[in-house]
Amino acid sequence: MTEDPRVAAPIIELRAIGKVYHMGEIAVHALRSVDFIVRAGEMVAIMGASGSGKSTMLNLIGTLDRPSDGEYLLDGEPVQNLDEFELAALRNRKIGFVFQSFNLLPRDSALENVELPMVYAGERRSTRRKKAITALDRVGLADRMDHLPNQLSGGQQQRVSIARAIVNEPLLLLADEPTGALDSTTTKSVMELFVELHRQGMTVVLVTHDPNIAAYAERVVTFKDGVILSDETKTKDSDASNRSHHASHHSDH
Ligand SMILES: Nc1ncnc2c1ncn2[C@@H]1O[C@H](COP(=O)(O)OP(=O)(O)OP(=O)(O)O)[C@@H](O)[C@H]1O
Ligand SMILES: [Mg+2]
Repeated sequence: MTEDPRVAAPIIELRAIGKVYHMGEIAVHALRSVDFIVRAGEMVAIMGASGSGKSTMLNLIGTLDRPSDGEYLLDGEPVQNLDEFELAALRNRKIGFVFQSFNLLPRDSALENVELPMVYAGERRSTRRKKAITALDRVGLADRMDHLPNQLSGGQQQRVSIARAIVNEPLLLLADEPTGALDSTTTKSVMELFVELHRQGMTVVLVTHDPNIAAYAERVVTFKDGVILSDETKTKDSDASNRSHHASHHSDH
């Protein structure tokens, strides 16, 4: 492949990725020979029906699971030869995760929850504090840092989990149905936060089954039965109703 210097570097590069789950006698092909590239600074939504392979895809991208076939390069580096400890360190440095259910520690304050990834990374206490406060400030929650999760609204809890995801300034922010547990007003503000982080340069990949959520992303990839059915990028300065094919990503198939 020839690299165009005007095009940002690939952060995610999946080559012929397959994932098979074995259930006794039955093999479930969750992903079939998927080729997929995400470049630095993109915001991509992964859509598709229930069971189409979205979460499987995100878990592989996040190195929470390993592919059965194919090759994965994260930030230009193959990950398949890394052991569990190396992968955990890589995730801690390079990837922020946001889940539908927030996954906050209930007995820890917002601040302590955001500090957690830095505790694992062995960061000094004073540095942790400072970075956690900065991250909470970025998500608009500096005035709630001493609250426990159950003293925060759903949208605020998701903002804390986003602060936790970005506190180590990751290369990549991954979110699986991040607004699945939120009402429509809160959903809007959480999605606007993702868009804002994307504008500031963050590479974002989010999974959703909701086209209204996907419309916040400039690129929408749709899965069906473990394969990519479509990959569309909104043309610049146009609205969601005006989309063009993302030719550079599959002209060579
Ligand atoms: N741990 C597992 N063991 C066996 N089969 C699995 C496992 N995880 C997923 N699958 C199967 O793989 C396929 C893809 O699942 P996946 O969770 O990726 O779907 P999804 O698109 O995220 O769906 P949803 O919108 O319901 O979350 C499904 O057929 C599912 O049943
Ligand atoms: Mg899923």
